[in-house]
Amino acid sequence: MAVPDRVLTNHDLEKMVDTSDQWIRERTGMFARRVSDDSTAASDLAFQASEKALAASNVSAEDLDAILVATVSGDYSWPATACILQKKLGAKNAMAFDLSAACSGFVYGLSIAQAYIQSGQYKNILLVGVDLLTKVVDWTDRNTCVLFGDGAGAVVIQPHEEKGVLCSELGADGSAADMLCVRCGGSRVPVTQEALDEKKQFLFMNGREIFRYAVRGMLQSCNKVLERTQKTIDDVSLIIPHQANTRILEAVAQKLGLSLKERFYLNIEKYANTSAATIPIALHESLEEGRLKQGDLAIFVSFGGGLTWGANLVQF
Ligand code: ACO
Repeated sequence: MAVPDRVLTNHDLEKMVDTSDQWIRERTGMFARRVSDDSTAASDLAFQASEKALAASNVSAEDLDAILVATVSGDYSWPATACILQKKLGAKNAMAFDLSAACSGFVYGLSIAQAYIQSGQYKNILLVGVDLLTKVVDWTDRNTCVLFGDGAGAVVIQPHEEKGVLCSELGADGSAADMLCVRCGGSRVPVTQEALDEKKQFLFMNGREIFRYAVRGMLQSCNKVLERTQKTIDDVSLIIPHQANTRILEAVAQKLGLSLKERFYLNIEKYANTSAATIPIALHESLEEGRLKQGDLAIFVSFGGGLTWGANLVQF
């Protein structure tokens, strides 16, 4: 994992917009988030996380066949941040592309990597979840600026006979695409002075509606991966969820009949919502803290812009 050094706390935000530490903690569970400086872009954090993942898995950059970067805040609209990362790593034998599924990007990416591995097409895949949404939030809008932080997480995926991704379930509902979006910068509304005056370059969100979709999508994804593999929730040691709001996770835990503290990994207090990076960052920290052991089953589950959602059932 990689996060910027600068920490922005709720108390710092109290000085920037009309908000309070109490409101943010009670409504979201967040206390701090990491914010990049002007010179840092997605490929920089992705590079730091990827170098660590390659070292930890004893794979050289030249051994990589594929680089997948899940992001909605890449260095540029195009070319792909994955190509910029490929150059930084010197991974000259790897194909590279970005995938856009917002906060579900890592779960979607793992499903794609699983399919490549199962088909035998690739043997060493680098998957990165990275987002720097602090670069696209309106720092005068208290509804959104308190919610996001920057970060990256990376994994190297290889074939294995027993361990790995057992099952992935993905979903989407494009009819709700306008609930969470950046409204200019693409071919529909190019960047013009008029668009900038209307603040269309910033992240727009209908928080209350997304909350409802999030609980439903995450619950449905967890249940589907269990059904498809004929497992029960009691077989699962740890759920590593997208960290968007503690209250969303409380609702999911309650509906699954689980204790949030015991069976979910939470680090939202430290990093807030890092979009596609929340799950790989939480995975890294849960492994470091010994929350996952050999033989454990875990669920990665997410939802995000698109709207998109999904889960991976993973055997460690
Ligand atoms: N500080 C103080 N007050 C605030 C703040 C703030 N930072 N933000 C909003 N408020 C106010 C609102 O203006 C509103 O005031 P009003 O009643 O006078 O109009 C009041 O608080 C309540 O607002 P709600 O929107 O009803 O608050 P809610 O309890 O729904 O919490 C939140 C808002 C935290 C955004 C919640 O709806 C949420 O987490 N939704 C999910 C959002 C999400 O997960 N987004 C990321 C998706 S993932 C991705 O793809 C990036």
